[in-house]
Amino acid sequence: MRVAVIGTGKMGSGLATAFARAGHDVVLGSRNPEGAAEKARAFGASGATTYPEAVRGADVVVLAIPWRVVQETLPTLGDLDGTILIDITNPYVDGKLQRLPDTSTTELIQSWAPAARVVKGWNHVWAQNLTAPGEGDRAESVMLASDDPGAKEVVAGLARDIGFHPVDVGGAIAARPLTDLNDVLAGLGLGPDRPLRVLER
Ligand SMILES: NC(=O)c1ccc[n+]([C@@H]2O[C@H](COP(=O)([O-])OP(=O)(O)OC[C@H]3O[C@@H](n4cnc5c(N)ncnc54)[C@H](OP(=O)(O)O)[C@@H]3O)[C@@H](O)[C@H]2O)c1
Repeated sequence: MRVAVIGTGKMGSGLATAFARAGHDVVLGSRNPEGAAEKARAFGASGATTYPEAVRGADVVVLAIPWRVVQETLPTLGDLDGTILIDITNPYVDGKLQRLPDTSTTELIQSWAPAARVVKGWNHVWAQNLTAPGEGDRAESVMLASDDPGAKEVVAGLARDIGFHPVDVGGAIAARPLTDLNDVLAGLGLGPDRPLRVLER
């Protein structure tokens, strides 16, 4: 599968590395493609280019950029018609987590990019765990939310490919509590060394 990772920071680096290791064709999208070329080599990606060039021809696009720039960035990505767009964001602005009354990042992104197939995932996963999501046979869980069951199943497959345990938590509306999940995990004393694992019976 061709995966475009938009943004080459902590989350973009980890997910690009993980998807490339799993055998996917990964291309990095960066504001500074020349500077990101070395990262692409290190992560096992096929290359680094501009955001819209990375999106062109991608089956799946990972939005690994700060929430505060998402709305202005989406129109610069080009044609997202039918493209699966993974929303990993937490809505931080000026270092503070925003409350989004009666909506979520996922629902807003879906409204800003209506032709895309938006799936929430990995917003509660620590960047350093992206390439090491399990311990023995116990995989770290990743909660997925989307109004598009087919897109969610594709992303669940990608999650399994990189060693995560996907958990379908429902439609896009289920992305609302996923932002608060970070506080819940902290309250439970979970962290990078003690990640979330959901038991399913
Ligand atoms: N860090 C975590 O553990 C974690 C966990 C879960 C979710 N998240 C979410 O994942 C997303 C990415 O987080 P991150 O930790 O990877 O952030 P980061 O390390 O700061 O990287 C963000 C990347 O976004 C791109 N970008 C585009 N416009 C930007 C701007 N105006 N200012 C800064 N960067 C800009 C940059 O890549 P280019 O310069 O290559 O374009 C940058 O490297 C965020 O929405 C965050 O809430 C983070």
